[in-house]
Amino acid sequence: MSVPKTNLHPPFRFLRASHATFTSRDLAKSREFYTEVLGLLVSDEDKDTLYLRGLEERAHHSLTIKRTQDEPACLRVGMRVYDEEELERAKHTFEQHGLLCRWADEPFQGRTLHTVDAVGTPLEIVASMTHQPRRDMQVQMHKGSASRRFDHYQITVPDVHKAAVFYTSLGFRIADYLTVGDHPIGVFLHVKNTPYDIVFVERDGPAFHHFGYIVPDIPSMLRACDIMGELGWGEDVEFGPGKHSLGHSYYVYLLDPDGHRVELLLPPIVYMDGDDPPVVWDVRTVKRPVEAWGLPPRSSWFSQRSRFLDCEVTHPPAAGSPLTLEKYLGLTVTEKGD
Ligand SMILES: [Fe+2]
Repeated sequence: MSVPKTNLHPPFRFLRASHATFTSRDLAKSREFYTEVLGLLVSDEDKDTLYLRGLEERAHHSLTIKRTQDEPACLRVGMRVYDEEELERAKHTFEQHGLLCRWADEPFQGRTLHTVDAVGTPLEIVASMTHQPRRDMQVQMHKGSASRRFDHYQITVPDVHKAAVFYTSLGFRIADYLTVGDHPIGVFLHVKNTPYDIVFVERDGPAFHHFGYIVPDIPSMLRACDIMGELGWGEDVEFGPGKHSLGHSYYVYLLDPDGHRVELLLPPIVYMDGDDPPVVWDVRTVKRPVEAWGLPPRSSWFSQRSRFLDCEVTHPPAAGSPLTLEKYLGLTVTEKGD
């Protein structure tokens, strides 16, 4: 099994996956969801935009929600580089790949590069943002799941290998590589020292599957679920709480009022050594790659994603059929002969 090798001396250094921007049909509902359920702080807002951050984040925002009249979408996902020099090098590198780059003016952010990756994911790269106070110590301000910081996002694409080659050439390391035999169907990439920053899974795309925030502990996760129930969003506790087989953490997936999916997860393991090799998981031998125990996700977890604006969506040549809750229950009924 050949796994793409990380370029240890990339033309510039990414720091981490840091933020994302979505659209919403109802900003008031979005505000209620992200402040009451996740416990995010509102760094700024006006009638058309909401800027949110986690309790330990000094960066002005890790989540931006913009008002829309249209079908809600993910506008772009954000990454950090160390400084302006790296940002210039990032632009040069993306242009060398033939990828369109333009400078954008985004509030509360330093110079901002809008571009797209090799598999069509709309990206925003920045080196700086306006600073806000950290609120991790002010426990009297903590609400909901007391979400600490933005962690990662997952994108579905038809060509996982292409995504893996592109990002490893830019210094990303592969923590886990999910395959069917020699065919890759999932790549779990990171540049910070915890898994993950960006994950690509084989399905039609590019489309946005979920983003994750770190929460302190299991009770915080349960508190988010409780609040979802009390606020009338119980049905939108979509999957979990549970434990991933290869995610190195516990999880719960929630759908926000516009159908954007957020994962709450506990602080994951730490990658400390440069020679820590990717772990290859062949789904023919791993019985349940998503969940270590409990029931599989309902079919919406696989099928429902946020679209990217103006992105041509293509399909993989032959995608497998995931084990859904509906299929699992159907199989159980058939096997029992009920
Ligand atoms: Fe995740």
